[in-house]
Amino acid sequence: MAFRTLDDLDVKGKRVLVRADLNVPVADGKVTDDTRIVRQAPTIKELAEKGARVIVLSHFDRPKGKVVPSMSLKVLVEPLAQAVGRKVAFAEDCVGPKAQEAVAALKDGDVLLLENTRFHKGEEANDPAMAKDLAALGDIFVNDAFSAAHRAHASTEGVARLLPNAAGRSMQAELTHLEKALGNPQRPLMAVVGGAKVSTKIELLQNLVQRVETLVIGGAMANTFLAAEGINVGKSLYEADHLETARKVIHMANESGAVILLPRDLVVAKEFKPGAAHRTVPATGIGADEMALDVGPQSIRAFENRLLTTRTLVWNGPFGAFETAPFDQGTVAAAQKVASLTRAGQLLSVAGGGDTVAALAHAGVEQDFTYVSTAGGAFLEWLEGKELPGVEALQTK
Ligand code: 3PG
Ligand code: MG
Repeated sequence: MAFRTLDDLDVKGKRVLVRADLNVPVADGKVTDDTRIVRQAPTIKELAEKGARVIVLSHFDRPKGKVVPSMSLKVLVEPLAQAVGRKVAFAEDCVGPKAQEAVAALKDGDVLLLENTRFHKGEEANDPAMAKDLAALGDIFVNDAFSAAHRAHASTEGVARLLPNAAGRSMQAELTHLEKALGNPQRPLMAVVGGAKVSTKIELLQNLVQRVETLVIGGAMANTFLAAEGINVGKSLYEADHLETARKVIHMANESGAVILLPRDLVVAKEFKPGAAHRTVPATGIGADEMALDVGPQSIRAFENRLLTTRTLVWNGPFGAFETAPFDQGTVAAAQKVASLTRAGQLLSVAGGGDTVAALAHAGVEQDFTYVSTAGGAFLEWLEGKELPGVEALQTK
């Protein structure tokens, strides 16, 4: 990967378009998780401090090419201003006269947020006319939105092709850590893949199994693997039409020499509710009326033993139904072990993708991993080995 960073730019007096991802959870007009804002603020701040006229672009939610007032970026003006420590102006459109006037009014060091890029159909269509209108607002394009880089949209891909470009600090941090984790890792390399369904992670499993020394399967998707090995999983959630997929991954592991770690023991219950009566059984001992909801202590011990000789870990997805106690224990124990080895300097650990961040936060170890990505879908596509259009467009080769 070769891309320019803010270090390569001369931004004083220039209009710098910054593609951020301000698609944060908002409830009743309040941001409920500001992680993305906090991670991307340094780029905006640095550019403003260097005398750029900073113009921030972002999508928010999925308005599908129409103006949807409840999906306005206006609610993010204050949180963004707080995070960058400067006033943030707002324009009610991201292209056209309103945007042009607001940009023309900027002085060196000012920050302007433009309205939701997805209010225009041209955004998701990656319409060249929309990209051109966006490009006309700036002299330089900086993409800091790794979490939107899997979208080939006008504000992520199209505009990057029309202006001198660079990665922002958050994008740079994401790409640097992802490269260390999977592009060019210290070995042995382990991947933890959890979550409910094999069917949503087929490409991811097939890519990872060819690249790692150890693939740990957790969550309900492990039930599909167990069923594929002929084990009776009782009432457990599993995908009967993906037994072949699981067998193919096992076969690929045999070919590549990767070890697949499946649960050895499981925490099972007859019903899925908080505090449900439960017991721990060997993976082969699930009763006909029971379902697996977490991995057991032997599984965690096996994971920990492997982890001791692992140098690099990539983690996506929980081991069990961690939102519902006591079925969070496997995930919490595993996350805490990763955190302690990371703190001790023995392990480089990178996690990402939707539920994963919530699971690590639940275990109280979000700060103790080497890096936790802010991306959901983009992180998954990257684990699938796909090129991300927003990243591709920044490549200098
Ligand atoms: C995300 O939240 O994953 C990104 O902002 C991308 O959003 P999208 O899935 O609506 O494209
Ligand atoms: Mg999303």
